[in-house]
Amino acid sequence: MTISVLAPAKLNLGLEITGKRPDGYHDLKTVFCAVSVFDRVRIDNDGTFPPLASTDLAERARQAFGGSAGIAVQKRIPVAAGLGGGSSDAAAVLRGLDRLAPGQDLQSLALSLGSDVPFLLRGGISIGAGRGDLLDPLPFRPLWFVLLTFDHRLDDKTRAMFAALEPGDFSDGAAIAQVATMVRDNPQALGAMRLPNGFRRALYSLFPEVAAVAATVETVTGLPVQVTGAGPTLYLVARDFRHALSLRSGLRLAGDLRGRFDRCLVVRSVSRIPIVESRP
Ligand code: C5P
Repeated sequence: MTISVLAPAKLNLGLEITGKRPDGYHDLKTVFCAVSVFDRVRIDNDGTFPPLASTDLAERARQAFGGSAGIAVQKRIPVAAGLGGGSSDAAAVLRGLDRLAPGQDLQSLALSLGSDVPFLLRGGISIGAGRGDLLDPLPFRPLWFVLLTFDHRLDDKTRAMFAALEPGDFSDGAAIAQVATMVRDNPQALGAMRLPNGFRRALYSLFPEVAAVAATVETVTGLPVQVTGAGPTLYLVARDFRHALSLRSGLRLAGDLRGRFDRCLVVRSVSRIPIVESRP
């Protein structure tokens, strides 16, 4: 049997780094939101797909789960972008394998693969604390976003970005509590607020061109530019679908932005992550 699982991207609707932990990780507070750009993971329990690279997180998820199923990943989510693509592939592998052979503790397998993987097992919108694995779901809200992705690459990006943090980049988590309240009570107002992100300074100093694009986007749209994860993807929170489309047109047509970003995508929040098909 082959089953096919959608692996959504995620955005961080704000991310505060609250402390350094004895285990080498950092404590953070964030609001995760799964969004509608998907990788597609196919799982074949007869193992007919060619093997993946052993460094691929989807392959590491397969090994952590055990068994001999074959995995194939169709990538749509920009990689190393702050969008959780690799983590989501791993989560999708776990969900698919669990469908074939239920019973394992997916949450702890997920955390062993990466800090964002537990959230991506579930999707929706959720507060994340600890490494990002202590999840407190928020009510689902239909939210629209405009993403700007970049080609810039940094080896071992997440680790490098955490290592670049300075004392002033840490904060107490109070701003994320406010973001969570807005998601619950007044999600339309999110777009006008600059969502906190503890990586913003480090990102803008390592990638001055991303900082320059962010400034231009703010001038062109009049909206605050948001950072997801450790970047480099930037995004805007739109009021609704039409607003998102008009923001995207404005960004694509802006002469000052020509050739300075990779892709400009309109996405929405997604509540559930279906296993899309299964056939013998
Ligand atoms: O958990 P994940 O494998 O995605 O993390 C990659 C690296 O990022 C970790 O090895 C660690 O250096 C850093 N990290 C951290 N605190 C977190 C998440 C990641 O310091 N909460």
